[in-house]
Amino acid sequence: MPTQPVLSKRAAVLKPSPTLAISARARELRAQGHDVVNFGAGEPDFDTPPHIKDAAVAAIRSGFTKYTAVAGIDDLKDAIRARLKADYGLDYARDEVVVSCGAKHSLYNLFVSVLDPDDEVIIPAPYWVSYPEMVALAGGKPVIVNTSEERGYRLSPDDLAAAATPRTKALILNDPSNPTGATYTRDDLARLAEVAKAKDFWVVSDEIYDKLVYEGEVHTAFPTLSADARRRTLLVNGVSKTYAMTGWRIGYVAGDRDVLRAAAAVQGQVTSNPTSIAQKAALEALKGDQKPAAEMAGAFNERRRYMHGRLTKMAGVRCYESRGAFYLFPNVSSHYGRKVNGQTIKSSTDLTRYLLDEAKVAVVPGGEFGDDRCIRLSYAVSLEEIKKGLDRIEASLGRLK
Ligand SMILES: Cc1ncc(COP(=O)(O)O)c(C=O)c1O
Repeated sequence: MPTQPVLSKRAAVLKPSPTLAISARARELRAQGHDVVNFGAGEPDFDTPPHIKDAAVAAIRSGFTKYTAVAGIDDLKDAIRARLKADYGLDYARDEVVVSCGAKHSLYNLFVSVLDPDDEVIIPAPYWVSYPEMVALAGGKPVIVNTSEERGYRLSPDDLAAAATPRTKALILNDPSNPTGATYTRDDLARLAEVAKAKDFWVVSDEIYDKLVYEGEVHTAFPTLSADARRRTLLVNGVSKTYAMTGWRIGYVAGDRDVLRAAAAVQGQVTSNPTSIAQKAALEALKGDQKPAAEMAGAFNERRRYMHGRLTKMAGVRCYESRGAFYLFPNVSSHYGRKVNGQTIKSSTDLTRYLLDEAKVAVVPGGEFGDDRCIRLSYAVSLEEIKKGLDRIEASLGRLK
């Protein structure tokens, strides 16, 4: 064993994903026989629709089980291009699309491709936990800019302009947002696009929840804002959330061909292609019947309404009524300072631990997303479980002294 430090500096500071950790702890408690309600997971509770599974089985049976082109099979790239055209009127050439092993992988490939050491990446908070970690892992410097519940958790153009420096290489936008569920209007985005143009940086637009918007909300794809936005946007999406395909691991990025050539080269050296079988499944997801996806989105909205209604009626809980993704991000900080079993709840982590151990309800501490006043609850859980979990949370909060 070498005598130098065992881990690289980058690996030593990397935090494991807290959402995956909470899900693992919930699974562990379940394995011990506890009835745990899991609001922690960032994935649909629904099964992958049967026609998508059938496509994968057909791929296996036909022997579509070898390496494919690194950046994805042409059929799938064409289906992605057709979706972007049909949904948003966007035109991309084949070499402006790279398919990867999940949107997470697409994002990481991008950061490795565009970031030099200490290049800054602006990340609005609350943020998805993986953004700062991935940026840092790729050698960049995350620059966190706060948003507020009062402004609907939308990044303000003035705050963006103030945070930009000559070292700013990119902004990460996530609309709809994990963890707040917040969505942007076209006007909001247009103002951010003007700042991006004036200050000249990439916009990594993570639109993985684009199909999960409710109550008449209309999603605007960032590259549709202007010709300039089309050029500077690296649009990330995937099939995980819309089609209940988290385990299949297919995501993609569309955008600048030089950046994507580099992203494909990174991928080529690290993993080669995404799984051949999963690519065929994703092709069916994008080209086939869209009804199952629409039905799942409808179910999420019903749960969203119920969960929001219940949370806002709980003593000491405030909850922004977001209309996207499948998360609510209630502010529970008025309970901090209260006690249970001689212990004082001081943070979102303390409260999360209390809820998991005492109420057997898993949520994710907001501190992990850059706002310690809140906790994140996923409503990609059956209505029955949601009712049970919220009853337990209400009772547990009521026991705090
Ligand atoms: C905002 C956001 N982007 C990307 C991803 C990753 O999705 P995938 O399963 O395609 O890697 C997630 C998953 O939780 C997410 O919430």
